[in-house]
Amino acid sequence: MSDKVWCDPYFKHLVGYDKGVMNAWFPILLSSLSICAVASAFTDSPKQIKPGELWPDNRGKHVQAHGGGIIKLRDTWYWFGEDRTQDNAPDKRYVACYSSKDLVTWRFRNQVLKTTDPANLGPGFVLERPKVYYNAKTRKYVMYVHLDDQSYRAARVGVFTSNRVDGDYEFKTSFRPLDKESRDIGQFIDDDGSAYLIFESRPTGGFYIAKLSEDYLSVEKEVCFVHAPLEGGGLVHYEGLYYLIGSRMSGWAPNPNLYATSKTLEGPWPDFKDIAPPKTNTYGSQSTMMVKVTGKKKTTVIFMGDIWHPQTQWDSRYLWMPLEIGDGKLWLPSPAPWTIDVRTGETVVDGRG
Ligand code: DGJ
Repeated sequence: MSDKVWCDPYFKHLVGYDKGVMNAWFPILLSSLSICAVASAFTDSPKQIKPGELWPDNRGKHVQAHGGGIIKLRDTWYWFGEDRTQDNAPDKRYVACYSSKDLVTWRFRNQVLKTTDPANLGPGFVLERPKVYYNAKTRKYVMYVHLDDQSYRAARVGVFTSNRVDGDYEFKTSFRPLDKESRDIGQFIDDDGSAYLIFESRPTGGFYIAKLSEDYLSVEKEVCFVHAPLEGGGLVHYEGLYYLIGSRMSGWAPNPNLYATSKTLEGPWPDFKDIAPPKTNTYGSQSTMMVKVTGKKKTTVIFMGDIWHPQTQWDSRYLWMPLEIGDGKLWLPSPAPWTIDVRTGETVVDGRG
């Protein structure tokens, strides 16, 4: 060992440069290092998703991605949602984008949308539930949103595009998909990459599952009309079965969310059932999406829900939990902090092994 042992300036003043001093300090140093190793084994333990709590981003600010959606590009997930930051300009509507490699720690990327009434819907216009798709042919990122007037009568979608996932999205168009009233929207990308929009249509009392056009800029074809008066629609394809979830319609107030299954997207979708004990009102949340995480050992499906705080929307929380799913059954376990290893797909819920 050379006489000049430590290059690190912090250790230099602790142990000095002298070999004799080093010999005296070495055992103490070794034991402190092992204490550090044990301590770091604890501090490095996987970070938890904590349903209902504030979810700080890399800046320490609560994630603003309400009514959101997630896409995965290579090894990164991007979470888009309504940005309801308290000091946002009241005449604008905002969408924020965050990225993560572990689904737990989220880095703020950009307020990808800051828009002033793009479709002339008047003061108090509504922009909700943004969902972003990547179109590999056009290399554009295409964002769908629910656009409405103050009293939710316009019932349209808005379409915005960007060349970058976290770029500034530009307004393209607004319309009623399939000429139907459309309020809450949901996003579904099937295993073969086909892109669908789910939208709630009140006059017919149900959900439409509709295929997007090749460039994703329009809604091309009705795949199925699901006769169930639900909103907050989400879909997942899991072990050969499609699972559709949605909430009843009670404004911002939570209600018992439901699910149905079908072998094909075309349906039928018989028999909507509870996803959680009805008296819990989905543990105070409302569905927005299901995220499938395909790991090396396991495929986990995450329920993404919003806990709305209508009077203080910026403080609305998230309820994410791994679903118990399979063989035609879907169940949202009671919320508790949990971890996910996105490499293996495995999850551990606090207190449940
Ligand atoms: C329920 C919807 O799911 C929300 O996105 C929002 O539109 C509220 N209704 C408004 O009351």
